[in-house]
Amino acid sequence: MSLQPVGQFPAYRPRRLRQSPVLRALVRETQLSAAQLVLPLFARAGRKLRRPIAAMPGVFQLSPDELLVEATRAHGLGVPAVLLFGIPDRKDAKASGAYANNGIVQQAVRLLKKELPELLVITDVCLCEYMEHGHCGIVLSDKAGARILNDPTLKLLARTAASHVQAGADMVAPSDMMDGRVLAIRTELDRLGFVETPIMSYAAKFASAFYGPFREVAESAPKFGDRRSYQMDAANASEALREVALDIQEGADIVMVKPALAYLDILYRVKTEFGYPTAAYAVSGEYSMVKAAGANGWIDERAVTMESLLAMRRAGADILITYAAAEVARWLKEK
Ligand code: PBG
Repeated sequence: MSLQPVGQFPAYRPRRLRQSPVLRALVRETQLSAAQLVLPLFARAGRKLRRPIAAMPGVFQLSPDELLVEATRAHGLGVPAVLLFGIPDRKDAKASGAYANNGIVQQAVRLLKKELPELLVITDVCLCEYMEHGHCGIVLSDKAGARILNDPTLKLLARTAASHVQAGADMVAPSDMMDGRVLAIRTELDRLGFVETPIMSYAAKFASAFYGPFREVAESAPKFGDRRSYQMDAANASEALREVALDIQEGADIVMVKPALAYLDILYRVKTEFGYPTAAYAVSGEYSMVKAAGANGWIDERAVTMESLLAMRRAGADILITYAAAEVARWLKEK
């Protein structure tokens, strides 16, 4: 773009198009709509259970009946999809609860699809919530220390994804960041005849301090070490593109960047480079920061939330995964 000056005043005066709300709306480049929103929900065994999370006002661990209430309310406001996480009663070294036929996510999926069939139900596929050590893969501990076994983990992930889909999930979203898991899941779903079920992969998922509050909700903080051997280094952008390329080759239908706001450059590059349906996950820490500052009257919570989501859209996100999805849908209606 090169602009030559014309005469004393520039011929092009951007302010001309900012004179009225109607004109501003006419030339607006990016829109926010409820149709783009996904609401994460946390399922836990029980009845009438609605356990609040201190660091995330408005977010709860929900028993399936309460989860249905929450999903119904969000859906009524125009949120088309939910992303389910499970908190099992028992954890072990094989993450049995993740692929148990009557696991908590499987139960929640069945209930949602029965009572609210139009709601798109996406399940997070990971093992950390179900492992006693809190890691996303199988851990081998010996004299050399503890390490994550990538390849043996793939079988468990594929089995988990398959059990979600067998329960009725419309889409699976692997968040574990093991290498090769998209292919492993795709192969297993195809083998079982679920060739039409899409995979939304957490393709560029960074090892991030912004996940702090989530680990309180999901009770999935690693008992030792951290996730830096499988999640990405915050310093790397080219690597994020390679991660996304791999997941696309392996069969991902939608690719995700996570976290969102601190990674808009990644989002932009992923969308520009691949042109695939792209999701941004505004994670727990992003939500908590806005809630906390808003509650203190330090920022306008609603305005900051909308501006942040719009920024994700501008950077290239088609899909916005946010704990504020229901509120945002309500705000969009009020507008
Ligand atoms: C599971 C998983 C995590 C998140 C989504 N799936 C936590 C983690 O990787 O430690 C984070 C979501 C959030 O912070 O809102 N692996």
